Amino acid sequence: MTPERVTIYEVGPRDGLQNESAIVPVEVKAEFVRRLLAAGLPVVEATSFVHPKWVPQLADAADLMKMLGDEGRELPVLVPNERGLDRALELGLRHVAIFGSATETFAQKNLNRSLDEQFAMFEPVVRRARDAGLDVRAYVSMCFGDPWEGAVPVEQVVSVGRRLLDLGASQLSIGDTIGVGTARQVTELIDAFGAEGVPTNRLAMHFHDTYGQALANAYAALDRGITTFDASAGGLGGCPYAKSATGNLATEDLVWMLTGLGIEHGVDLDAVVATSVWMAGHLGRPSPSAVVRALAESPA
Ligand code: HMG
Ligand code: MG
Repeated sequence: MTPERVTIYEVGPRDGLQNESAIVPVEVKAEFVRRLLAAGLPVVEATSFVHPKWVPQLADAADLMKMLGDEGRELPVLVPNERGLDRALELGLRHVAIFGSATETFAQKNLNRSLDEQFAMFEPVVRRARDAGLDVRAYVSMCFGDPWEGAVPVEQVVSVGRRLLDLGASQLSIGDTIGVGTARQVTELIDAFGAEGVPTNRLAMHFHDTYGQALANAYAALDRGITTFDASAGGLGGCPYAKSATGNLATEDLVWMLTGLGIEHGVDLDAVVATSVWMAGHLGRPSPSAVVRALAESPA
């Protein structure tokens, strides 16, 4: 059941940098994106068109996308609402991602909307984006636990995910925003989506590594046939509206495991490690990725 090939959806420039306290100059961000693409990452989520006061780290989103030029147009960006979509359309971008919450509290904290209101905000975004020929991904956050509400019922996650797909999203990214999930939950959730008619090829997994479970969870999802995994170079990341969130599953840790399993991914590990070491210099803190630390000290 384990797939022969997976797609790594790199979120370091967006999910990673949105939560770093260091201000990263836009030229450095552009070079980060270019280096990740050059390392063979097939998708690099570049930034977010959210309110700049909500995420000041990504306030330079338009400048970054202009700097990336033609190369940037094929890269996905987050847009929560029509204002965000307008900003993406003005730049001729082709891929956007909306981001919903499986819980009431996080919908309020992250989107300033209730759980139900978030769909009203997303509906015109997806409709207009699709009419303009754009691809729309949808995230669901807090799928395995929420810092304010605790355990999140599987049916609630599936219901939110189903509603986002019904709006017209092509893929659902299942977010363990605060990294509390464990392998059995992952398997149960994928199976619950399957029982509701959502096949594994519509799902991506988005693990944060707060409790050190991200790689085990990715393995469980692989075993269930999932073929798209979100990861961030060097394990950067978190969410500014959920303080208990830390970095994503590190791209290098995922690549190491996939290579060992004989699963194709198309990524040059040494090039990603070199990029993460370079970025750590700009951020002023070492990468939390075990693979980066191992290879940076004694390159393979
Ligand atoms: P709001 O305050 O309710 O917005 O925020 P509003 O619709 O009432 O508008 C207020 C003002 O903001 C208006 O300006 C709008 O034009 C402006 P005014 O008329 O007062 O001058 N505005 C904007 N400006 C620029 N870009 C925009 C935009 N929208 C409104 N897009 C809003 C609602 C959704 C905008 C806000 O809550 C927000 O920006 N939230 C983003 C939070 C965020 O980015 N969180 C991190 C990403 S999610 C994540 O990391 C999880 C994920 O990784 C998966 C996982 O791990 O689970 C994806
Ligand atoms: Mg995230």
